[in-house]
Amino acid sequence: MTKIITAENIEEAAECIRRGGTVVFPTETVYGLGADAMNDDALRAIYTAKGRPSDNPLIVHIADKGDVYKLSSDVNENAKKLIDKFFPGSLTVIMKKSPIVGGVVTAGLDTVAVRMPSNPIAAELIRRSGCYIAAPSANLSGSPSPTVLRHVVDDMDGRVDYIIDGGNCDIGLESTVVDVSGDVPEILRPGKTTYEELKQILPDIIINDAILKETDTPKSPGTKYTHYSPKADVTVVVGSKENVRKVIQNKISVTPNCGVLTYKGGSYPGVFTTDAGDNMQQYAANLFYSLRLFDENGVEVVFAEFADEGGIGLAVKNRLFKSAGHKVIYADD
Ligand code: TXA
Ligand code: MG
Repeated sequence: MTKIITAENIEEAAECIRRGGTVVFPTETVYGLGADAMNDDALRAIYTAKGRPSDNPLIVHIADKGDVYKLSSDVNENAKKLIDKFFPGSLTVIMKKSPIVGGVVTAGLDTVAVRMPSNPIAAELIRRSGCYIAAPSANLSGSPSPTVLRHVVDDMDGRVDYIIDGGNCDIGLESTVVDVSGDVPEILRPGKTTYEELKQILPDIIINDAILKETDTPKSPGTKYTHYSPKADVTVVVGSKENVRKVIQNKISVTPNCGVLTYKGGSYPGVFTTDAGDNMQQYAANLFYSLRLFDENGVEVVFAEFADEGGIGLAVKNRLFKSAGHKVIYADD
């Protein structure tokens, strides 16, 4: 039985973490499915609840910056700079793990991923539990991450002990993951903390090329699995507004039961549409919600308007292209 509570009763959820249970909690990125990172049975319960392969490691969430020194035995200069600048927030840092970190949470790797969320409910849960909280996104493996309570309940009701209702997640996409365990810092997953911002702090940072490719040998184990996929079949259409609309207009005239994810308010009379917003920050906040909305409305084929913009646009592109299985039409070509 899953109990849905609000932050008022957070102590119950903290107690649940302490005794090895599972709690879904809000963060500023997406909802997380948490358990005590030092308790292997509790960690196995996370993998089971998500249906997640056990070779995909989990992020360890902390409420105190100093805790990075307990989880990692090699907090190097690059790590320190990132932590100083971006903790708490939407950045996950991968460092060499310390001996206290076990093999279940890291899926056998010698590195550990650490994040300090800024969401006050998340911070309070970690603090009150007295634990480090391991938490993947709170979706069933393969589905878009949940950003609103309803989508958490759809995936996790009956599979976890507690769900804390924290309203809607501000950012809507998962944290930026940066690996600083090697000589050259590398972005393994783009997010709200952008390449441009990171480059100001670590000028030699690179972007792992699996981010925008269909197949590769990814360094972040999670990126090799199908991700962010709604039931609907998604195609992304990229280019100038005018050309994108022409292409989609043609497609919908010959495609039964389709819908359109518009950007900056495109209009397609007669088909189900939802708008991703007026800029990439809004697109990020709306993307996962919208993908699930198409499924809820029985839409089987989705055309997504997209424009290549920088900043958080890279994270949107990464998630959107993956959700489309890299089916992309370049409307300006
Ligand atoms: O915003 C977020 O990061 C959310 C919230 C809940 O904090 N969490 C999240 O976790 O997105 P998850 O498990 O869905 O994604 C974590 C990603 C996966 O792709 C995983 O493979 C990668 O981080 N990862 C974790 N530990 C790693 C490690 N030691 N080395 C490389 N990649 C790692
Ligand atoms: Mg995930």
